[in-house]
Amino acid sequence: MNTTVLEPKLEKTMTNNSTKSYASKIKNVTVIGSGTMGNGISHVFAQHGYKVNMMDVSQAALDRALGTISKNLDRQIAKASLTEDDKQATLANITTFTNLKESLENADIVVEAATENIDLKNKIFEEIDMYAPEHCILATNTSSISITRISSHTKRMGKVIGMHFMNPVPVMKLVEVINGFATDRATTNTVVELSKMLGKVPCVVEDYPGFISNRILLPMINEAIFALQEGVAGVEEIDTIMKLGMAHPMGPLQLADFIGLDTCYSIMNVLHMGFGNQKYAPATLLGNMVQAGRLGVKSGEGFYKYTPGSKELVVSERFKNNKWEH
Ligand SMILES: NC(=O)c1ccc[n+]([C@@H]2O[C@H](COP(=O)([O-])OP(=O)(O)OC[C@H]3O[C@@H](n4cnc5c(N)ncnc54)[C@H](O)[C@@H]3O)[C@@H](O)[C@H]2O)c1
Repeated sequence: MNTTVLEPKLEKTMTNNSTKSYASKIKNVTVIGSGTMGNGISHVFAQHGYKVNMMDVSQAALDRALGTISKNLDRQIAKASLTEDDKQATLANITTFTNLKESLENADIVVEAATENIDLKNKIFEEIDMYAPEHCILATNTSSISITRISSHTKRMGKVIGMHFMNPVPVMKLVEVINGFATDRATTNTVVELSKMLGKVPCVVEDYPGFISNRILLPMINEAIFALQEGVAGVEEIDTIMKLGMAHPMGPLQLADFIGLDTCYSIMNVLHMGFGNQKYAPATLLGNMVQAGRLGVKSGEGFYKYTPGSKELVVSERFKNNKWEH
């Protein structure tokens, strides 16, 4: 009788019906999109020893991402939380690609962090589903698009999940793990354990508009904009009240500038349409600022004006006529 215990193949373990996590077997990660979030996600995986294929349609974005990762690793070295050897090992774990199919060879998990656009994400998921190995989990970092809707563009709905990292990824502890309607328990358990292995704190939520983070954060920001629009208080007053009164590290208007007013507007629209409730209607002022190109930090001006190299918080001229100012 043959008593040899066979090591189950990775693919087998990852495609059976068990609810068990197989996070410890994950070695290769493909990150799609190398912008603000994609470079942070690649950084964190690579720092924890995973082989990362970082893919973007833009070579310039990939080059920028490698520069950003290198700079952020230097920051960690300056704080003595990392050595120069760790930095070199982290960078050596990252390979860049502009070809999606090539970037997916051997992937155990994909984390998609491309531009927040539903048609784009649907198309990306159709293609990933075609090229990624059968056992591969398909995670998305979307802030607001339905995981179930994205998963319906694949033939592996059970393996599609939200893995919502926060910005800046190397610093922020939370990963909001979002179950699509058809996500398998094993997929959730794997992503939860994987998040912990990255030193993060995962919280599992279900697939409803805005999940938890943006369902609660964005209406607060929108309410701050309504208060400004109605002249209840000025930009500085609103932000100071929330900082000093509620111990928020940053006021809601400054945070809106950081997130990008276009992103805030689009998430409010997702909540408004998704719940069909007027309480989520975006403030008119928010819509006007987006139309006028006042998008916050990324456009140089939103509720505040941003000068490269300066950390001083200067209220935008547009909002300086507060009647209480003296
Ligand atoms: N910025 C945040 O604070 C934040 C926080 C949490 C989640 N998110 C989510 O993360 C995702 C990425 O956001 P971001 O802020 O990093 O955006 P970004 O604009 O900084 O980067 C997006 C990148 O995707 C690339 N891209 C576009 N189409 C692509 C394709 N077909 N294939 C591969 N790459 C492609 C772009 O070239 C760009 O480099 C979005 O879904 C967003 O909602 C953002």
